[in-house]
Amino acid sequence: MRTIADLGGDLRGQRVLVRSDLNVPLDPAPAGASSGRATITDDGRVRASVPTIKALAEAGAKVLVTAHLGRPQGTPDPAFTLAPVAERLAELLGAPVLFANDTVGPEAQRIAAALQDGQVAVLENVRFNAAETSKDDAQRGAFADDLAALADLFVSDGFGVVHRKQASVYDVASRLPAVVGGLVQAEVEVLRRLTESPERPYVVVLGGSKVSDKLGVIDHLIERADSLLIGGGMVFTFLKAQGHDVGSSLLEADQVDVARGYIEQAAARGVDLVLPTDVVVAPEFAADATPTTVAADAIPADQMGLDIGPESATHFADVVRGARTVFWNGPMGVFEFDAFAAGTKAVAQALTQVDGLSVVGGGDSAAAVRTLGFADDAFGHISTGGGASLEYLEGKTLPGLAIVEESR
Ligand code: 3PG
Repeated sequence: MRTIADLGGDLRGQRVLVRSDLNVPLDPAPAGASSGRATITDDGRVRASVPTIKALAEAGAKVLVTAHLGRPQGTPDPAFTLAPVAERLAELLGAPVLFANDTVGPEAQRIAAALQDGQVAVLENVRFNAAETSKDDAQRGAFADDLAALADLFVSDGFGVVHRKQASVYDVASRLPAVVGGLVQAEVEVLRRLTESPERPYVVVLGGSKVSDKLGVIDHLIERADSLLIGGGMVFTFLKAQGHDVGSSLLEADQVDVARGYIEQAAARGVDLVLPTDVVVAPEFAADATPTTVAADAIPADQMGLDIGPESATHFADVVRGARTVFWNGPMGVFEFDAFAAGTKAVAQALTQVDGLSVVGGGDSAAAVRTLGFADDAFGHISTGGGASLEYLEGKTLPGLAIVEESR
């Protein structure tokens, strides 16, 4: 794959369109606040995007950043404006960042034409245009033509979105000379280490709410990992598959057979599929609900599991610490509530003690480690892509990477 290094060190006079993933969690502005802006609750993706943008600006490029925020319905929606994100980017760059209040319209065109060498501008949320995510190739293509007309070169650096076949990720890369940015390069290098002969023991920790979101990755990893530790909401579907009652816990009834299949498959292959032996339960999903620890096979009918229990957390942490390669995706419990954060904390802590490669998959697990106060550099790598890193590990072709590989 061609990288920024292939563009040469002098980009003066070149307009470079960078696709970043600036999709950060926001706390909305309070209703009725006159000057209120949404606040960014985790700026990890903005920080991860800075080195590429900075390197391009320092090489003299006129940098136009395109990105999405949330899932607006294909029309402008102030709740999803990238304006606060552009402000944060300016703070992190330590330089002014211009903001276009459209994506390919008159304002974007004016700014693109007026940019000076080394200046950076952010274009408004690319998903304010329905064509960005259209399933219709011609519609996406026409929009990608407009994006491409703003620039001379394309840098694909939004790792979290490379699994999406969308105009600003995929189609635009065939319309301009395209390379990957430093973030995509770094993410792919780490994921390659996980897929090509990982050092053993190779331990995978999966959590999060749904088994159905993780089918592909379990299928793939059950043949490759030495241990698969399962926590989070999806654990109850596995416990049900073992014949246990799960009270009012989250349950995907239509996935119970699938979970049973995985348990059997793991046993047949000699893979250690580890489920919690104890669970922290509560009568309701609330921060102040009363927590009780029970055995995983004795969840009371009127209680729901909201975290793995202390015995399980200790065991999970021991297995993680003994690994040479660990990939973790999905919290072990409702880490946003203090009473149900211990399982996630124990796993995160153990990841920081791994003598080898420890990778935190993006999305909720990345947010969890930051919310729980861990420093980014305590881990081998924190991915910026949840869905993208899972699809990579599943062995799928990621459209945003494949198209750059084909680029001139
Ligand atoms: C993410 O948050 O995982 C990426 O930014 C992709 O967003 P999407 O799932 O809305 O396409």
